Amino acid sequence: IDSAISSEEKLQKICQLLSDEISYYNWVGFYFKNGDKNELKLGPYVGAETDHIIIPYGKGICGQVAESNETFVVPDVYAQDNYLACSIETKAEIVVPIFKDGENVGQIDIDSHTIDPFTKDDINLLDYICERVSEII
Ligand code: SME
Repeated sequence: IDSAISSEEKLQKICQLLSDEISYYNWVGFYFKNGDKNELKLGPYVGAETDHIIIPYGKGICGQVAESNETFVVPDVYAQDNYLACSIETKAEIVVPIFKDGENVGQIDIDSHTIDPFTKDDINLLDYICERVSEII
């Protein structure tokens, strides 16, 4: 990744690349811990505009990952009771935490219009991306 561009731009490029290359990645974005508050703030993303700019810890899939420190795969969002809908087209979601110096500082969030699309390959890819992102933020 080119070091002449800001980390914000790098994250934007990662979103664009994932969304362009993987047909069932229909919304790709980053959320990061908002200062010292127990909430997430939307970072770079590609896809439909979302109302969820700020997400309190514990709320929705993203807020749960902020507290659990674990990847959350949701094959069917309609089967979740603690879920924040971004688009009515979204059928599935995966959220993978980003750690920096051992601390959960944010996450990558992918929404899919396909039901149950995510496999171990997606988890491996997104784990790798989150590790690389950790080095540039
Ligand atoms: N669905 C997420 C909210 C973020 S939007 O999908 C972009 C959630 O339940 O946390």
